[in-house]
Amino acid sequence: MFDAIAQYVLPAMARLHEPELRFWSAGCASGEEAYTLAVLCREYDDAAACAPRTRSLGHRVRIVGTDIDRGSLETAERGRYPEASFNETPAEIRSRHFGGAAPCSVSAQMRAITSFQRRDLLTDDAPFVEAHLIVCRNVLIYFDRPTQEAVLQRFHTLLASGGFLVLGKVEMLLGDARPLFATVEARERVYRKR
Ligand SMILES: C[S@@+](CC[C@H](N)C(=O)[O-])C[C@H]1O[C@@H](n2cnc3c(N)ncnc32)[C@H](O)[C@@H]1O
Repeated sequence: MFDAIAQYVLPAMARLHEPELRFWSAGCASGEEAYTLAVLCREYDDAAACAPRTRSLGHRVRIVGTDIDRGSLETAERGRYPEASFNETPAEIRSRHFGGAAPCSVSAQMRAITSFQRRDLLTDDAPFVEAHLIVCRNVLIYFDRPTQEAVLQRFHTLLASGGFLVLGKVEMLLGDARPLFATVEARERVYRKR
């Protein structure tokens, strides 16, 4: 899913002439998803710096992770993760963006663009209107089908024109939400607001 975001979403984001790019990790649990978005942005910009005529994301990205669970959010805000959290992280990414020995702390640079808020996806306001990217993975499964459809339609309303919705492998667009999005990548369920 993160590869798909790097491949399809970030280049489109970089091309936008917006002073701020708002990324929302909805149902972020203990923060790994939000910080991984921060890593992807940094990696994207490092690669853009070496490629002529490629625009960077620059300092425009703001990532907000939201969750209903206070304990998870405390872990997210702490930003320190045990060794096991890095089992699938390439060694060079780990050394570039996280401190040395476990527990590894996220870098100050990642913290500067990432924050967390407690929000109930079903009843609270979103962290921002006009989001450019909403990632909501393994969260809709908690809700019944009518609620899933309502959340998906709300995401559509909350996205900026041409904004992206990423659901990951497990969940998909349903019912009346289907025609609201174009499919960008079917396997990882990357969609773009029509
Ligand atoms: C399985 S985790 C997914 C974490 C992350 N998105 C990922 O894929 O790694 C599901 C998260 O959804 C959160 N959640 C469940 N119902 C929610 C609601 N109504 N509002 C906000 N978050 C909710 C849970 O607290 C939990 O942290």
